[in-house]
Amino acid sequence: KNVGVVFGGRSVEHEVSIITGLQIMENIDKDKYDVVPIYINKEGKWLTGNGLFDFENFKHNNFEDTEEIMISPTHNDFNLYAIPNKAGIFRKKIVGKVDIIFPAIHGTNGEDGTIQGLFELMNVPYVGSNVLASSVGMDKILMKDVFKSNNLPIVDYTWFYRSKWIENREEILEEIENKLKYPLFIKPANLGSSVGISKAIDRNSLINGVEIAIRYDRKIIVEKAIENPREINCAVIGYDENLKTSLCEEPLGWQEFLSYEDKYVNSNAKYGGEERRRIPADIEDEIRAEIETIAKKSFKAIDGRGNARIDFLLDQKNKIYVNEINTMPGSIAYYLWEGKGISFKQLINEMIDIALK
Ligand code: DAL
Ligand code: MG
Repeated sequence: KNVGVVFGGRSVEHEVSIITGLQIMENIDKDKYDVVPIYINKEGKWLTGNGLFDFENFKHNNFEDTEEIMISPTHNDFNLYAIPNKAGIFRKKIVGKVDIIFPAIHGTNGEDGTIQGLFELMNVPYVGSNVLASSVGMDKILMKDVFKSNNLPIVDYTWFYRSKWIENREEILEEIENKLKYPLFIKPANLGSSVGISKAIDRNSLINGVEIAIRYDRKIIVEKAIENPREINCAVIGYDENLKTSLCEEPLGWQEFLSYEDKYVNSNAKYGGEERRRIPADIEDEIRAEIETIAKKSFKAIDGRGNARIDFLLDQKNKIYVNEINTMPGSIAYYLWEGKGISFKQLINEMIDIALK
């Protein structure tokens, strides 16, 4: 079977998505599957071809050995059609065929249900969470509402629209300060990898933080910041009631919150950074067990499928809070599964198996 690995994409997490895509293509079980690389560039163009297997080509913007394609959601197949040539002559040339899609795009247009909707229309099986789980998992407000209604532990939060901020910021500031005590985190509702997040210790920094966040989204969430928390992450794989958890990790060397650079640019040894995480996290068995239970409940709460990473915060008294779920975790969090005896290759196989169930 041909597995189309779709990566890149029009999101602020474009670069991370390239790394995840390359890692999946490298580690996919070549005895079982043929890989068709499909790269969405920053302009939203779709490319395929052998030039997409090599990280160097991305670094040097070299796309010689690739071909631009279009896909047709009105066909019940996933043929990759070459686009019309410069003269506008339509060559209905099929340059590839795909049986299963493996999306490897973090953030907007990849992790939020939009591309999953396209695959649904095309009637092609795809790995990972469906439209609903992806979009709920992507929207920090809806995600927390769902977690809250499932009695999962989350930090106190409130949210508002950018349009209302522009009209009446005084009212919003009052609402926030009545509901939550400083320090606070301000986040765009819909971005990943810590983009647009800041911390506020007073009204001034709150205003500054909101001004940053509204550049990225029309909905803003404000959360009570936990003092000196530890971050612990745990992945879940499965579907419906059939779920299992990975080892827990503790990302190291960060302050206040993990920045985009901390998380990805600096932490990917193979692609120029260094690993900065402790696996397994140094936590008591009891806490680990509780984290695993809450991880599964969080996954189920949004009706996740495939493999997701749930990020937790531990306060000074070891109280656990679910921070968020990532339905398309960086590197698909393979490093959390290795310690459980599941190799990267097996993880990919399992994710594809789940997609075909
Ligand atoms: N959004 C990034 C890739 C992650 O959560 O792993
Ligand atoms: Mg995220």
